[in-house]
Amino acid sequence: MYNIAIISGDGIGQEVMDSCEYLLDKLDIEFSFDYGEAGFDCFNKNGTTLPEETVKIANKSDAVLFGASTSTPGQPSPIINLRKALNVYANIRPIRSYRGVNCIRDDIDFVIVRENTEGLYSQVEYGDEEKMIAERHITRSASERISKAAFNLCIKREESKVTCVHKSNVLKKTDGVFKESFYKVANDYPQIKTEDYYVDAMAMYLVTQPQNFDVIVSSNLFGDILSDESAGLVGGLGLAPSGNIGDHNGLFEPVHGSAPDIAGKYIANPCSMILSASMMLDYLGEWETSNDIKQAVKKVMADCKIRTPDLGGDATTMDVTKAIVRELI
Ligand code: NAI
Ligand code: MG
Repeated sequence: MYNIAIISGDGIGQEVMDSCEYLLDKLDIEFSFDYGEAGFDCFNKNGTTLPEETVKIANKSDAVLFGASTSTPGQPSPIINLRKALNVYANIRPIRSYRGVNCIRDDIDFVIVRENTEGLYSQVEYGDEEKMIAERHITRSASERISKAAFNLCIKREESKVTCVHKSNVLKKTDGVFKESFYKVANDYPQIKTEDYYVDAMAMYLVTQPQNFDVIVSSNLFGDILSDESAGLVGGLGLAPSGNIGDHNGLFEPVHGSAPDIAGKYIANPCSMILSASMMLDYLGEWETSNDIKQAVKKVMADCKIRTPDLGGDATTMDVTKAIVRELI
């Protein structure tokens, strides 16, 4: 029996989480669910975007599922703070092409490993009427830790190369440390090939030669931007899952946000959330079920019949969920 913390959040976060729970209920694995609040609606109700109680529920669970939150003016991001509170320092964002989905190429299969605890997402900003300053924190320890996670993931995925992305020609000190840390850690993995690119060039290479990448490691903001770009290469945010992994906690969430433009219409693509649940099961050691879910999503995509409007169809969130469940049982 696994205890899972469920934090649905706002907008389509709720809708894709309902679909994910529907699927988890159909599995041959026992779960108990604890529910936590976070986000915009939570702020309006409780005066905070991330109540202490939610962090407690997340901390004592075996794993956390998070939907999405709408940003609240003047308030910190609940998901960034939750990742920090749980010290889930590695944000793992796999990107792959699916047969039947309009992708830029059909042989894309890489993963972005994004540093989750520092960088430009320190949320330390200050200044005056004229000038505002945002702090970009880069430490050697966090940079080495994230590089190590990237090399270990490369071994787990049985791939051959890790690419470090930075902007050390301009951010000489901060990204100097990030790049140095990467090559220091690389010494411990002589069997794995390495390379590094500036983030602007990398943004282009992801479009011109995405098939050439295996594992990409970057700091917080760059990793965030490149992962939405990468999702766009393979069908969009509706198919992009993620896991946030630390030494003691795992938090799984779609890459997308609360999508206010489609919220309430029940047409959000549930695949990103369902694939995030598959990543959670892998983390929990339920490898077979994790893989079955991935295969079921692949099959439904390849069939090209039941799909949400983001992929050119007219099915609802629940239609797609039920089609995936039918493939599973
Ligand atoms: P978004 O990811 O919510 O949406 C971007 C575009 O992708 C929209 O056109 C949306 O309809 C589409 N989209 C996203 N997920 C989809 C799905 N599952 N199925 C079909 N289409 C999907 O990003 P946006 O619009 O920039 O931000 C909306 C809100 O979400 C903001 O308040 C933002 O701060 C928040 N946000 C929250 C995140 C989180 O909680 N982890 C991450 C990113 C944004
Ligand atoms: Mg993002």
